[in-house]
Amino acid sequence: MKAAYKVANPELASKGRLKLNWAEARMPVLMHLREEFSKTKPLAGQRIAGCLHVTKETGVLVETLRAAGAEVSWSGCNPLSTQDDVAAALAANDISIYAWHGMSVPEFYWAIERTLDFKPTLTLDDGADLIFTIHNRFRELAETVIGGTEETTTGVHRIRAMAADGKLLYPIFAVNDAETKWDFDNVYGTGQSSLDGILRATSVLIAGKNFVVAGYGHCGKGCAMRAKGMGANVICTEVKPTAALKAMLEGFQVMPMEHASERGDIFITATGMKDVITGRHFAKMKDGAIVCNTGHYDCEINIPELENMAVKCTDIRENCQEYTMPDGRRIYLLAKGRLVNLAAAEGHPSEVMDMSFANQLMALIEMAKKGKTLENTVYDLPEELDQRIAGIKLRTIGTQIDVLTDEQIAYLTDYSAGT
Ligand code: ADE
Repeated sequence: MKAAYKVANPELASKGRLKLNWAEARMPVLMHLREEFSKTKPLAGQRIAGCLHVTKETGVLVETLRAAGAEVSWSGCNPLSTQDDVAAALAANDISIYAWHGMSVPEFYWAIERTLDFKPTLTLDDGADLIFTIHNRFRELAETVIGGTEETTTGVHRIRAMAADGKLLYPIFAVNDAETKWDFDNVYGTGQSSLDGILRATSVLIAGKNFVVAGYGHCGKGCAMRAKGMGANVICTEVKPTAALKAMLEGFQVMPMEHASERGDIFITATGMKDVITGRHFAKMKDGAIVCNTGHYDCEINIPELENMAVKCTDIRENCQEYTMPDGRRIYLLAKGRLVNLAAAEGHPSEVMDMSFANQLMALIEMAKKGKTLENTVYDLPEELDQRIAGIKLRTIGTQIDVLTDEQIAYLTDYSAGT
């Protein structure tokens, strides 16, 4: 029987397949693991429900999960991030997928529910909406779920809070917290793709602009670094003293949003927190200020307050809306405050998603191996896995590194050695 699906336009499949081929060529770790696991089938008998941005990189992951023996059913984890051609290509390859660009919020949850129809044994999340849907409305399904994975910082925070309250119904691997995920995807992936989104939505010159980055975590650091590289004057806002100091020592100005809002030409939020930019900030912004978000949820910029203050809203170009204030100032909101890197561009490049998704794959295989033996809590992936994934990455891109000698290994733990 053909897999059920709902996508925007099945005729886009051949275009999507070309993109998948492009991504495969840039995801050597995942392709190496696909080759190995298509022989050993470590996911045979597993039904994986996934809720993660439908991009060409995700397509490579989905087809790898299937090659490893799993049955897969997929939805997007953001109403604006689905690449319709990729969704069509996956549907044409008999993968059950429910995702299209521009879906409404009720459609978004309808799509998640459809991925539960086959009663998954494993779940894969980016932002925890699938996990929450099971916990809030389909609790009986948790009995047959062995475990799940979570891709993003925001999702991991929320699931850890659930676990701390004793509310988590099955174990989760925090894929986000693997070094080969956060130290690459969150920094270099977010940095490049967020700047890419801003450029595609506006085509403005970055050089010479006051570029305000809210939040100097890994994602904010990536954005600040790339904006600086393009010649912007970067201003960072923070609530955490150590993060603020790191930003300062990297050469960025640090100040509260109260002050940054008067100076910024371009604002990007990367905090995972709500109400980072609100009405009192819009009230101070310069004419022409550009505002966007790269955090998982669209609550970092208080859009209802912007809408209430504005006398007019005009669609200027794709992913760029002009809000006119009563005093005539214009503020430009990109991608409706949703993830600018995925809504206005294509998300992180394949080369970084390669390692993030190798972690996803290995985490699901580990869960499947462990069966129902783990506790209902959040687990980190083993450190050896990071080194294995990084090692495969280096090998497949042809970079060699040094190896410690036996004497050097002994020196590591030799507490009698000194000056
Ligand atoms: N998150 C950020 N970039 C992504 C991509 N290219 N694919 C899937 N999820 C992502």
